[in-house]
Amino acid sequence: MKKVLLIFGTRPEAIKMAPLVKKFKSHSTAFDSKVCVTAQHREMLDQVLEFFEIEPDYDLDLMKPGQNLHSLTATIIESLKPILEEFSPDFVFVHGDTTTSMAAALASFYSGAKVCHIEAGLRTYDKLSPFPEEINRQIVGRVSDYHFAPTSKSRDNLLQEQVDVSTILVTGNTVIDALLESVERVKNLSNPDIDFIKQNLREEQEVVLVTGHRRENHGAGFERICSALKRLATQKPDVKIIYPVHLNPKVKEPVNRILSGVDNVLLIEPLSYPVFIWLMNRSKIIITDSGGVQEEAPSLGKPVLVMRDTTERPEAVDAGTVLLVGTNEELIYNEAIDLLENEDRFRKMSELHNPYGDGKSCARIVNFINQLN
Ligand code: UD1
Ligand code: UDP
Repeated sequence: MKKVLLIFGTRPEAIKMAPLVKKFKSHSTAFDSKVCVTAQHREMLDQVLEFFEIEPDYDLDLMKPGQNLHSLTATIIESLKPILEEFSPDFVFVHGDTTTSMAAALASFYSGAKVCHIEAGLRTYDKLSPFPEEINRQIVGRVSDYHFAPTSKSRDNLLQEQVDVSTILVTGNTVIDALLESVERVKNLSNPDIDFIKQNLREEQEVVLVTGHRRENHGAGFERICSALKRLATQKPDVKIIYPVHLNPKVKEPVNRILSGVDNVLLIEPLSYPVFIWLMNRSKIIITDSGGVQEEAPSLGKPVLVMRDTTERPEAVDAGTVLLVGTNEELIYNEAIDLLENEDRFRKMSELHNPYGDGKSCARIVNFINQLN
């Protein structure tokens, strides 16, 4: 039996690792698999664990309000040591580019486990954007033994960095496995949060969905984002802007200060994953700086304005669903107005695309590990 440890800590990692956890558990004769959460996020992680019915074997419960990168990184590495010693996994799976992923990859490398990187090979090659994620994923890439790249573009980035081709597998992104598995469950979902949103919406009212949290946008970037949204709300009083606000205090403060009290802006707590899928489907356009939302939206046929200057996810930009607008107030405002008014452009950007996979990524990953000696 191969011993597998899956380590994650934030909301997006949990969503993207959940189908892989299930896949390993369903092969229990070949794998002894365990889950360790750092709980870099707490409430936002628990929402996902509950929906996917995952009970972690280890919960480090590390989140602190307003935590900083230095102590978070150090604490994760230190706290993982005894777990890696106790379980002694053959393979450790980490996901993407968070501090949990980077620190867990290093700790696993120190302990002699094979490191497997899900969502490998995404790059902007700009070390400050996204910060610190670009450096996190490059570090994970350097210590990983196996690289599960979502697309051929991400594989090509790894090949360009001299990664051995036999250690790379193009799988699609596991976010699509999670999405396809959940979309069915969401169809007839009745939920108090959905009822609350419906109470605040007219039947035909157009919805602009907003999310945002990137560290490089904290401060001046968020001030500009919120000013653009306030102008949009004033110019389009019939449209409802719904914004589930990330729990990071550096995000909550400017968003609440600038946008609370604006009539057609609904500020709400982070939504559970199924309710968020329901809301994406109910929306006309999405404005976000999220990586995961950029990947989900093309599969739902929703145009996305991405509030970033660079993206490591060029596939949806090439497909025409995603447009980069940075944190430029004019650009966010003008492009949102245009998408709401220009039907032709809206239609073109709403075409369904699936650049990030077919929902079978986890099966490919588990088969790959299964056939290793
Ligand atoms: C983190 C990741 C980022 C990822 C994002 C997904 C790093 C450096 N950042 O950013 O890559 O895209 O998660 O959302 O790894 N908080 C809560 N409850 C929660 C979650 C967060 O209160 O459930 C608050 C806490 O005050 C916490 C703060 O948010 O200290 C920041 O959390 P942190 O994980 O450090 O950064 P994020 O901005 O969430
Ligand atoms: N999401 C959610 N509830 C919300 C907002 C987002 O469940 O209120 C989901 C979304 O569907 C996507 C993921 O969270 O799968 C994205 O997380 P986030 O934007 O925090 O991180 P990123 O993807 O940018 O790392």
